[in-house]
Amino acid sequence: MLLLRLHRVRVLGLQQASRLRSTLRFCIRACSTDDSFQPQYPSFTYNDSSASRGWGVMGTLLGLGAVLAYHECRCRADQESPRMYTREEVSSHCSPKTGIWVTFGHEVFDVTEFVDLHPGGPAKLMLAAGGPLEPFWALYAVHNQPHVREILAQYKIGELNPNDKAPPTLETSDPYAGDPPRHPALKVNSQRPFNAEPPTELLTENYITPNPLFFTRNHLPVPNLDPDTYRLHVVGPPGGQPLSLSLDDLRQFPKHEVTVTVQCAGNRRSEMTKVKEVKGLEWRAGAISTARWAGARLCDVLAQAGHHLSETEAHVCFEGLDSDLTGTAYGASIPLARALDPEAEVLLAYEMNGQPLPRDHGFPVRVVVPGVVGARHVKWLGKVSVEPEESYSHWQRRDYKGFSPSVDWDTVDFDLAPSIQELPIQSAITEPRDGETIESGEVTVKGYAWSGGGRAVVRVDVSLDGGLTWQVAELDGEEQRPRKAWAWRLWRLQAPVPAGQKELNIICKAVDDSYNVQPDTVAPIWNLRGVLNNAWHRVHVYVTP
Ligand code: HEM
Repeated sequence: MLLLRLHRVRVLGLQQASRLRSTLRFCIRACSTDDSFQPQYPSFTYNDSSASRGWGVMGTLLGLGAVLAYHECRCRADQESPRMYTREEVSSHCSPKTGIWVTFGHEVFDVTEFVDLHPGGPAKLMLAAGGPLEPFWALYAVHNQPHVREILAQYKIGELNPNDKAPPTLETSDPYAGDPPRHPALKVNSQRPFNAEPPTELLTENYITPNPLFFTRNHLPVPNLDPDTYRLHVVGPPGGQPLSLSLDDLRQFPKHEVTVTVQCAGNRRSEMTKVKEVKGLEWRAGAISTARWAGARLCDVLAQAGHHLSETEAHVCFEGLDSDLTGTAYGASIPLARALDPEAEVLLAYEMNGQPLPRDHGFPVRVVVPGVVGARHVKWLGKVSVEPEESYSHWQRRDYKGFSPSVDWDTVDFDLAPSIQELPIQSAITEPRDGETIESGEVTVKGYAWSGGGRAVVRVDVSLDGGLTWQVAELDGEEQRPRKAWAWRLWRLQAPVPAGQKELNIICKAVDDSYNVQPDTVAPIWNLRGVLNNAWHRVHVYVTP
């Protein structure tokens, strides 16, 4: 127990040191698998040499302890045949109360004691609690090293019962049975149709969101389309040329690449629900992600079909190949002027971060409309047409619109409100998490900021005291092009925790280059569909004395 406590102290020390941007090399070499092992002691290297000396001595003692404990554990394991567990038993161990178990291959580990020692932080490890490590370690290659596997080996408690089959698949009569597998880190808001967001602590780890973590907003089952027989139908103008384009035909158009943030209109709806109930999925702050998209420009394809800017108001309507039992497909539209503007960079995308689109994100082709709400980025695109009116789809006319807080379901008139296109300025805190306990000394606050319509984020203000005083955060990520700031900025603020504070009320708010700012509270922008929540984002944290 004493050893464990000391080990914990050492790892907390490591975390602080890495926060100071010291170089940390975490290296525990345990022993070989036979009984005649030679202990090798842990060694840590920091830029800070005084810390290094102190940790060196303690590390040696502790390393010896860890090695002895590991040796004892291995001896026990060698003597006994492994205990067998089912996946269900493992999944029931996912909290400090039940103990925290994980699997790797067919082996089962009780890592309860390691959670607080994890160099990547307890919250990250907890994402895998009760399930396999592989999908997470695939994202963090740092685990692909022998010393990490050796640490894990110390916590082995048994193996997965070979008779325990993988979780039952969905029934074949289920229209969602053909949906693709998903990353277990995603926080699922609805399984059918599948809607999920990455946990916020993973969201801003990368400027470009890895494809498996990109938030998913589906309205219907995911179609299973054959890329060889896929055709995109582009309706021509009267007397013009209708097109039926294969994937190869689309690839013949000049390939255009652009980094675009996509945000769901319902991002942060869960905060609106706290003011008054709304209809819709309980999105937290993760219904937003960023990818590098590549494909043909919509303006080039429309021009080939003979379309040009019309005098009268016109819209480009998109229809998906996902459909419900009545054959109704997902649909949406954008103004023709935006579609034909080469500077607007609207894409018929067939690549996402250098890969073919994943099925959940519209394989083989989706529309990407930079600066515009995600609902118009129609996936599994089947048909494009130019019409005098907006799309008649439910999702264009009876959804994704904003209303006054006083409008309720008895008084709402969807025809009176314009459909949402460009989204307002937005920002959110992704670290620390609401309710988390942080250490006194210094706090790192991280998050994202983005504005619709290509407006650049010029500033993010952060308050640690509920809005009394503000500090300006540092902006990371790609420089934004004037009027074409399609992608978010990640930001961070490192600041001293005011002495004696037991709690912090952290707030962020962003400003775009039109000097649009976020409203301070949710109530005045509440609406019955729970869309367009861009109020100041707030997290409340506790400080260890
Ligand atoms: C019981 C399971 C786990 C073990 C034994 C483990 C072990 C470790 C070790 C030893 C390191 C330091 C590696 C080095 O710097 O050489 C590390 C770092 C890290 N781990 Fe894990 N890990 C586990 C689970 C996870 C999970 C599930 C995630 C993510 C969801 C994760 C995310 C990270 C991250 C982000 C770092 C890097 C931290 C930094 O660069 O400061 N780990 N882990």
